[in-house]
Amino acid sequence: MKIAVLREGEAGERRVAATPETVKKFVALGATVEVETGAGLTASIDDPAYEAAGARVAPRADALKDADIVLVVQGPDPAGLNGVKPGVMLVGALNPFARRERVDAYASAGIEALAMEFLPRITRAQSMDILSSQANLSGYKAVLDAAAEYGRAFPMMMTAAGTVAAARLFVMGVGVAGLQAIATAKRLGAVVSATDVRSATKEQIESLGAKPIFVEKVAGIEGEGAGGYATEMSDEYKQAQAERVSSHIAKQDIVITTALIPGRPAPRLITDTQIATMRPGSVIVDLAVEQGGNVEGAQPGEVVERHGVRIVGHRNMPSRLAADASALYSRNLYNFLSAFWDNEAKRVTLPDDDEIVQGVRLTRGGQVVSERLRA
Ligand code: NAI
Repeated sequence: MKIAVLREGEAGERRVAATPETVKKFVALGATVEVETGAGLTASIDDPAYEAAGARVAPRADALKDADIVLVVQGPDPAGLNGVKPGVMLVGALNPFARRERVDAYASAGIEALAMEFLPRITRAQSMDILSSQANLSGYKAVLDAAAEYGRAFPMMMTAAGTVAAARLFVMGVGVAGLQAIATAKRLGAVVSATDVRSATKEQIESLGAKPIFVEKVAGIEGEGAGGYATEMSDEYKQAQAERVSSHIAKQDIVITTALIPGRPAPRLITDTQIATMRPGSVIVDLAVEQGGNVEGAQPGEVVERHGVRIVGHRNMPSRLAADASALYSRNLYNFLSAFWDNEAKRVTLPDDDEIVQGVRLTRGGQVVSERLRA
């Protein structure tokens, strides 16, 4: 079984889909691994490190030739996969809703595309969960980005020249990224509060020493849907949330937004009018900026200023911590593939009736087979 690891082609993508650690593990299983020349450079991994781990390093065409599995971070341009053999598995963060045309092209090329974002959120799949491993790093980095843009300090400091007040930081959306943002901001000494539509997060917020800001006694409050994800909320709820949050935002120095609803544009949480109530020098980081944005006026890839407030909209946060993000992502891919490793045949066999396989499999035998894409 041959595994190819590609060098990423998307602008700004610094991660890589395998590290010397996971190469070694794949080789130990009995696979051969071929890494495209320079694939790890932007994640601080040089070619000799892959060779030392047991991989061959080669140009893309050689790496792809006869490969059974191709590992990527983002789904590559189908044209860059010319020459792969039919039935090859393409494993990565294929962004199936936004990149639907690529999914169709993978199907036509006879590629079996496996989108790791579609992994079901079940206990057995936790170690394979790229959304969690990458969101965790994003939440951490968002707080550091906010601190870098903020012209004041985070912790309270008592000095001979007087006291510096602690920053007040508010996290909107307490999933994996939001929880890490809370923890990071607490470590930096900010006074932290947070909100979510899923009431289960209230306890999690408190357990991290932050203050929950929640809407009470409104119809449709249970915002938890299938798989622990958020659902679209009622209009009544949205109105009540906007009012509750408005008065809170006006008193905050930093706001980090992370709210997402799978398969839908990100919910709008902060309007321009609300931004105008914040004091000048405040900072908002919109982690949902690439999915349409939680914050009015946020621009993907830019830091913009509105009413004296900086709105940070960096793209691809995990890539900005490329070494750690690659290490975790690569382990997720290894954990996925090794779970389906057939020791006798020395190859990966994906059973059709497995919940994980059914979740991630987008295309097979020339067809798009994913339920979520056909729905
Ligand atoms: P996500 O990235 O899809 O969304 C981020 C957060 O935004 C969520 O907490 C969501 O409830 C919240 N949100 C959505 N609309 C909102 C609104 N209008 N206002 C405020 N907040 C809003 O979520 P993520 O980080 O992927 O995690 C979702 C859940 O899945 C969590 O409970 C997490 O613990 C759970 N999970 C379970 C796993 C497993 O069992 N294997 C693995 C990973 C996560």
